[in-house]
Amino acid sequence: MDKEFDFFFIEIKNLKSRKTFPFQLYIYNPRNHEYSLFLNGNQPLSKEIESLLKELCSTGAQLAVPRKQSRTFLKAQEYSIDDFPALAKTSELHQLEKEQLMYQKLKEIYDDKEGAFIFKSHFEQALDNNDFSNLIHYAKLEILTFGFSTSHTVSLAVFLAKDFLNEDNYLNRIVALSYFLTKNNNIKDVESLSDVVCGAFLSQIGITQLPYSVIEKSFNHLSEVERDLYKKHTLLGSHFIKKSHLQLSDRCKKIIEDHHERISGEGYPAMKAGDSIDTLSSIVGCVYHLFEFSSGKINGNRQTLRSIIVNVKRNNYVSGLDMNFDQSIVSSLTSLIELETIKNKKVA
Ligand SMILES: [Fe+2]
Repeated sequence: MDKEFDFFFIEIKNLKSRKTFPFQLYIYNPRNHEYSLFLNGNQPLSKEIESLLKELCSTGAQLAVPRKQSRTFLKAQEYSIDDFPALAKTSELHQLEKEQLMYQKLKEIYDDKEGAFIFKSHFEQALDNNDFSNLIHYAKLEILTFGFSTSHTVSLAVFLAKDFLNEDNYLNRIVALSYFLTKNNNIKDVESLSDVVCGAFLSQIGITQLPYSVIEKSFNHLSEVERDLYKKHTLLGSHFIKKSHLQLSDRCKKIIEDHHERISGEGYPAMKAGDSIDTLSSIVGCVYHLFEFSSGKINGNRQTLRSIIVNVKRNNYVSGLDMNFDQSIVSSLTSLIELETIKNKKVA
């Protein structure tokens, strides 16, 4: 057991006049900081054992109960949690909170070893090497330090990061870039970042409900009927989330429903315009569009992410590329690429 988190101290008088207990009693030795089992659950507290206990406690040892048995202890001995302030305090430390502390420590160690994480330089490297592993790894490291109990969405972001941000794949690239682009837009609170993480993971969930004949084609090669069907994936995603009873924040739900809305009002499903589209929805929408365009899902032609961003930065018209997002988001994206440094780099 993890000593300082897994026990709470009691006094002999807290045993009252009872002789058997449905919980275990441990003895803490302050000299070696060890906890030793003293009396097993339901084992009688004989006069001899009680004398030994008193003797040990008189020499500085302390009586302790495993924290996981705290409810049993409180009920059997007829106490409330307020009678044990230390227990009330430590009871807040859930297993996941302990993990959070561990990840905070890991991040400190990583930062000490590697130096401050600079998104721009790591993004440049990711583009140069076509390898987003470092970005994904660092996004995961940061997300795992979030206080999981803040909200259901934050908790889900931590869960998704822990279980899925483990390799350089298409979806993880989108999640990591959405995450860092949000921070690059000076949105750094844990709840907003978690909305983006969950929104990025789940925005295309509605696609799974479409016929394969629609999914297998690039968007520009769909018939008008098929395009209308494809555009339903945002609302199908929302419906899927609703039916799953997944507890997401309203802002996260908006990302899933609005990631194809554009400030011009020409997006879908609601043709929202301007400020009526939340910034987080636009960031996730922008990143998705970049990767969809890059992988050929829009016009059937693959292009490097760098070449797309360069064209955006140079205001070049590219058929099928739709950067109709808030200017602050587009500027934040293009600021990641220095035009003077790309002369020697392949951009197409
Ligand atoms: Fe989408």
